[in-house]
Amino acid sequence: MIQGRVLVLICVLILAVSASVSETIRQIPLMEVGSLWVKAVETLASRLLTAVTTVPDMTDPLTYAKLAVLAGVLYGVWAVFFRPLNRVRKLGDIGYIPEGAYSTKETASMVQKRRKVGKIPPPYPNGWFGIMESFLLKKGEAKTVSMLGQNLAVFRDETGTAHVLDAYCPHMGANLAVGGRVLDGCIECPFHAWRFRGVDGKCVSIPYTEKIPDVARVKSWPVCERSGWIFMWHHAEGADPTWEIPRLEEVDSGAWVYRGRTEHHINAHIEEIPENGADVVHLGHVHGPIMTAGVNLHNMWDKWWSFAKHHWTANWQQCPEPDGHVGALKLTHNISVFGITIPMMNLQVSARQIGPALVYLEFKSFFGSGVFIQTVTPLEPLLQKVVHNIYVTSWMPTCIAKFYMVGEAIQVERDVMIWNNKQYEARPMFVKSKEDSLIAKHRRWYSQFYPAKEKNESIFQKDTLEF
Ligand code: FES
Ligand SMILES: [Fe+2]
Repeated sequence: MIQGRVLVLICVLILAVSASVSETIRQIPLMEVGSLWVKAVETLASRLLTAVTTVPDMTDPLTYAKLAVLAGVLYGVWAVFFRPLNRVRKLGDIGYIPEGAYSTKETASMVQKRRKVGKIPPPYPNGWFGIMESFLLKKGEAKTVSMLGQNLAVFRDETGTAHVLDAYCPHMGANLAVGGRVLDGCIECPFHAWRFRGVDGKCVSIPYTEKIPDVARVKSWPVCERSGWIFMWHHAEGADPTWEIPRLEEVDSGAWVYRGRTEHHINAHIEEIPENGADVVHLGHVHGPIMTAGVNLHNMWDKWWSFAKHHWTANWQQCPEPDGHVGALKLTHNISVFGITIPMMNLQVSARQIGPALVYLEFKSFFGSGVFIQTVTPLEPLLQKVVHNIYVTSWMPTCIAKFYMVGEAIQVERDVMIWNNKQYEARPMFVKSKEDSLIAKHRRWYSQFYPAKEKNESIFQKDTLEF
């Protein structure tokens, strides 16, 4: 039904534009524009019919060139209209303004070296963290992952269950996931074939002895697979999970379908990213200029784009117990062009920050409903991998979902430029206002995820960025 509305709208727009252009430039009376369109469609249809019913002359080299162009065009149409989005921006791709003769990547390296880190909260909070999207780990596959100061072996057994173990084998230290085979719910070390059970990390087989010492085991981490993600529970003192990741009914039932992902690598402390949700003032400023003005904070104020603007309202609050680990954000968005609001661009957003590193951002729009799932994963103390997935009502055209996702990515990339270049301000200079007190409230809420006393976890951050 919505797709029908979109098609009618597009046709009306094409007719309106062509009619006014024809009349003003080519002096064709409006009445004749319709018959010109009919003739043009007829000619195109008859040419297409001839092309598909005529056997091509395969001795003519031009035929191959035409077929190649046709294949390219068809691929392009498929890619734009049907292929899910995959937008990846690594550190140094964006988020820096090149200094002098230096490239963006060189500037990234310099900015990181000279930034004062100062006093920062613990870099690895307690909670559930996204490891990878489920589709990235097939049955029988093992992958090595570094995050939260840990080296991990992540694998999916033959029944489809995902497991996470410490990566290094206690025998002689081989990395289990680098060449290790997945067999009978276990991972087999690639070096001397000791086997470790996925559920608890216990060694269950050593090929050259019957006696398996009880201490022969690796640490296994609590895992939860939900909403298209494999999550791992991290707790600095080793405590068991104290809350569950909620399900998204529409995603589980297939009512909302996957339409793409974005991935951004950001040089900042993890808390900076969720804190954005309670920072209502930055919405109007950083995210006010229209998305076509781009992601460079320096250029986006170009007056050529000032005719259109994003408008936001937002409110954030902590949920009552037993959901004290959840923050709720209500957001509205619209776009005005020459001061006139475009109703098709309105969004009503209801977001939940679930613990330190996961957000479900559900939205309602003119074209249907959906959700952005955001995960933040600390790869190093000041290096975050932020991934967004979008799921939308199945009848929403893929290109519309991709448009939402690109729009969202552009807004995130403006934040990335702020995050990459700022320092964590442990004692911010807040002024007496509702706006700043909301950020203070968010800081108090987020502090529940920090370990009571910081554990001496292995830190393997590089001091510098090298490209
Ligand atoms: S190092 Fe793993 S079995 Fe020897
Ligand atoms: Fe933002």
